[in-house]
Amino acid sequence: ITSSTTLDPAFVIAPVPPRLFGSFVEHMGRCVYQGIFEPGDRNADADGLRRDVLELTRELGVSVVRYPGGNFVSGYNWEDGIGPIAERPVRLDLAWRSLEPNTFGLNEFMRWVEQCGAEPMMAVNLGTRGVAEAAALLEYTNFAGGTRYSDLRIKHGRREPYNIKLWCLGNEMDGPWQIGHKNADDYGRLAAETGKAMRLVDPSVELVACGSSHQGMPTFGAWEVAVLEHAYDQIDYLSLHAYYKKSGEDLVGYLASADAMDSFIDGVVSTCDHVAATRRTRKQIKLSFDEWNIEHRPYWPEEHQDEAWATAPRIAEDEYNAEDAVVVGNLLISLLRHSDRVAIACQAQLVNVIAPIRAESGVDAWRQTVFHPFALTARHARGEVLRVEVRSDTILESATRGDVRPVDATATRNPETGDITLFVVNRADAEAALFEVLLATEISHRVVEHLVLGGERLDDRNTPENPQQVIPRSSSEHQIDGQLVRLNLPPASWTMLRLE
Ligand code: AHR
Repeated sequence: ITSSTTLDPAFVIAPVPPRLFGSFVEHMGRCVYQGIFEPGDRNADADGLRRDVLELTRELGVSVVRYPGGNFVSGYNWEDGIGPIAERPVRLDLAWRSLEPNTFGLNEFMRWVEQCGAEPMMAVNLGTRGVAEAAALLEYTNFAGGTRYSDLRIKHGRREPYNIKLWCLGNEMDGPWQIGHKNADDYGRLAAETGKAMRLVDPSVELVACGSSHQGMPTFGAWEVAVLEHAYDQIDYLSLHAYYKKSGEDLVGYLASADAMDSFIDGVVSTCDHVAATRRTRKQIKLSFDEWNIEHRPYWPEEHQDEAWATAPRIAEDEYNAEDAVVVGNLLISLLRHSDRVAIACQAQLVNVIAPIRAESGVDAWRQTVFHPFALTARHARGEVLRVEVRSDTILESATRGDVRPVDATATRNPETGDITLFVVNRADAEAALFEVLLATEISHRVVEHLVLGGERLDDRNTPENPQQVIPRSSSEHQIDGQLVRLNLPPASWTMLRLE
């Protein structure tokens, strides 16, 4: 396989959006309890926050964290999670058929996210609640003082307002599984009215309305149009959610999951722009891909009705292998490629539940395979995303995705230094690929780092006993000849090449 591209610094898609490297902490399974928060554990600090998870979160390079759900938020009373812990109620969490102890809530989350150095992205409950509760929550977090809810915050120990900017107007409200699920018109009206009230409390907030739960929803497209028609003036972003998985033995199709992400994003962009055209407005809606990941075994509570209710049950604890890491690397390439429209993205979730970080009581947290492409992309995708068109002499066939281009790539360039980072995947399952990159620049470059993931032992995973089983390895499989860079890509692999 031979593929090639030309990189021209003049062809810029957009600056790398700082919020593209987000994550998601939901009250689900062991993400909060025994994930980021585990009082009494040997890794916990005085507030019960796990120091090892905090350190790995910083290393992951997470820029924004969505909280507290997810499906959980659609039945959540935010007031249950504030004030003296001994007075907080234990509730039934209907979304995940769990007991919610409420020993971790808004103020604990804000302490944690500040220590991560990340921005909070809060979701309000538009399932069982509505305008008043959302406005009250915003008054609690963002109003300076002298009112019922702002004074309550001060009484709870936080004098300065949090000034949280990013707010999700509900979660997956198109999904019949959602507590308080609505049709598009009912949700669109509620989102618009909630947004209006929230902007009256704090005009500086940025609002995300729910798009479709995934591209395969029967209402996909029509849902977006209806919601936008009601809420266009109030919102800044429309959400997308997607979880990918391997179908049977179709490895090529699985490795090309990013093609599905591309088409989903392109479809939502077209829909937003269609509504903009009908409104004759120049206001452009941006996208918030605020749940994306690989999920091999989704958890549906209705399939577990005979099980006892428990606090922080072990659910959706996917263990990722090297193959999954290649797919995650490619999904990040797709997000970067759309950086002119995707302004926010959150990998779902952060720890234990479909997550890059795993934690168990009494042992140090460890990095799953998918941690590595995320951390490296977040660290090295700097400056501007360049337009990359890949030509290929071969097209692969896959059972689930039809024709697949073997090589997919994106590149970023720091306009101040001229440094370029290439992120590349070879989706061919059995064949190496040669990738030729012509640099349309005057200056000569040298390779400062060439890392590869995958390519061999695709089933390997990281475990607490062997946390370094799958890590990026250094490669010397490159040549620079003037302005031409040649890279050898092992089959089923992800590559990062840094040029100075
Ligand atoms: O991330 C797990 C769940 O997936 C979220 O709660 C929900 O929004 C989505 O369906």
